[in-house]
Amino acid sequence: MALLQIQHYPEVVLTETSVPVTEFDADLRTLAANMVETMYAAPGVGLAAPQVAVLKRLVVIDCGDKEDPKLVVAVNPEIIERDGESYEEEGCLSVPDYYACIKRSERVRVRFQNLQGEVIEFNAEGLLAICFQHEIDHLDGKLFVDRLSSLKKGIFRKKYQKIMEQQQEQL
Ligand code: NI
Repeated sequence: MALLQIQHYPEVVLTETSVPVTEFDADLRTLAANMVETMYAAPGVGLAAPQVAVLKRLVVIDCGDKEDPKLVVAVNPEIIERDGESYEEEGCLSVPDYYACIKRSERVRVRFQNLQGEVIEFNAEGLLAICFQHEIDHLDGKLFVDRLSSLKKGIFRKKYQKIMEQQQEQL
């Protein structure tokens, strides 16, 4: 297994739409395993393939904790039902050191395939529901900051530029 390089905003690959996975082969399993390793090392609670510059509809999510991991590897995930509203703080491994509250659905029903290609459906709520919505956005070329109001997006751009300049100075 290997750690993959996480792409950061404003890399163009993060704005592109990923294509559905059709081959459930060893390459897919290797990619998924490397994404899981990369997510845990970061550490993060979710990672989508475009964040490691692979434009395939694959996400890995673990909203559990060390004592009780809850890993989900979801191929071609989609939200088939949603209801309620939540407004929780989010971050993203592709947008380092920036957090903001984002409007999402409170509960979702998700459908995806596992690495064997079997279709799975379940209901998610709370952090897991937010994670699915956040990660599926990545597959459509959308970051959580794209969901900010234009006013807040302007503030984000200024703040983020400062964060990037500080990181450059530290190098
Ligand atoms: Ni993200």
